[in-house]
Amino acid sequence: VFSSSVEASICVAQEIAELIRAKQKENKHCILGLATGSSPIKVYEELVRMHKEESLSFSNVVTFNLDEYYPMDKSSVHSYYYFMHQHLFNHIDIQPKNINIPNGTVSIDELHQYCIDYDLKIKEYGGLDFQLLGIGRTGHIGFNEPGSHYNSGTRSITLDHLTRVDAAPSFLGIDNVPKKAITMGIGTVKKAKRIVLLAWGHNKASIVKETIEGEITSEVPATYLQEHENTTFILNDEAAQDLT
Ligand code: F6R
Repeated sequence: VFSSSVEASICVAQEIAELIRAKQKENKHCILGLATGSSPIKVYEELVRMHKEESLSFSNVVTFNLDEYYPMDKSSVHSYYYFMHQHLFNHIDIQPKNINIPNGTVSIDELHQYCIDYDLKIKEYGGLDFQLLGIGRTGHIGFNEPGSHYNSGTRSITLDHLTRVDAAPSFLGIDNVPKKAITMGIGTVKKAKRIVLLAWGHNKASIVKETIEGEITSEVPATYLQEHENTTFILNDEAAQDLT
């Protein structure tokens, strides 16, 4: 628990940078699972700073993003493709072929196989070395909404009403928020060797408490993280305020 989310984000960025550098020394890829939304923005800002000022290279980094709205064009300002390029990829030396973000334009007929292939690709790289997560007020990680199975893989999902309410301001109204998304599964996320979940602010306090102190239940999918051996929650004081 940190008093400042900026300080906390810098700490997380440092862990990621150390992992990237350690993999570089071993001549290996570093496989990162990445999140969008407001929570990781400062982490990405710090990674960009380290690239520019401390010559942190991303040449060995392969990324897999958690999710994307469906349907969604890459060129839309609402796409997670756009978000990731704006906040991270346009400012670092990652090889474009190493960037993986669920494709919001894949046809309905191809969607099922596309999701299976997304998980297969992660597996072929030897799994995720590090997974960065945020948490939604429904208890979702990625877009694994309540009801998600602990063993679920990447798939299409119907967004919870509360998730769409929370997204509404940036879409200028709930009617513009897509009803569906493609998300990595709980099973996909849980195979990561290391997981760091970020939560800032009062409005995350009650779901953070349920996630950490509550029973493991599909009604709060983030509770599945209690079974993961190497997960850390990085919170600021406000997000931690309800913890006993
Ligand atoms: C985004 C994602 C979501 C968000 C969550 C919190 O890729 O996977 O689970 O992390 O909705 O969003 P923010 O950080 O905007 O509160």
